[in-house]
Amino acid sequence: MKALVVFYSRTGATKEVAEALVESLNCDSEELIDTKKRSGPLGFLSAGKDAKAKKLTKLTDIKRDPALYDPAILGTPIWAGTLSSAMRTYIANNKSKFKRVAFFCTHGGSESQQLFAEMEALCERRPVSILALQEKEVKTGNYQGKIRQFVDGLQML
Ligand SMILES: Cc1cc2nc3c(=O)[nH]c(=O)nc-3n(C[C@H](O)[C@H](O)[C@H](O)COP(=O)(O)O)c2cc1C
Repeated sequence: MKALVVFYSRTGATKEVAEALVESLNCDSEELIDTKKRSGPLGFLSAGKDAKAKKLTKLTDIKRDPALYDPAILGTPIWAGTLSSAMRTYIANNKSKFKRVAFFCTHGGSESQQLFAEMEALCERRPVSILALQEKEVKTGNYQGKIRQFVDGLQML
């Protein structure tokens, strides 16, 4: 079965990593679109507040059925130490369809263990592979080794 890369990205860093994974795995992807405005200073504030409160949001229609893929590779920026509302919502709506899962995130400098532990609890599955990248590392483009390590962990042979 093929992998599916599912991601949310507000400003492009997580999307860049998602695209590198899609290229490396030659697989499909699903970009989550939050119907709540997250751009600009007010969007930033609501994003932080909603993430901290662990609020769900409304996503635009999902195009791909995760039940047809294995693993589901889920990527989110860290917001207020936790998941973006869009990824929290996607997991809540689709976790019964997941087979294996793998997680990746981008962040501004926070540790990622707590985020991944929360994603594991929400998915009710242990990830087969994890990848955390700092935003500035993504900007330099110098993270291909970490992508390879993450992909090796998926054992997609
Ligand atoms: C509302 C909000 C809260 C954030 N909180 C954190 C945080 O707690 N820890 C951290 O390291 N980075 C935090 N960041 C930074 C993002 O995780 C980082 O910029 C990420 O790479 C953005 O990904 P994106 O470009 O895909 O949206 C936050 C960003 C936003 C917008």
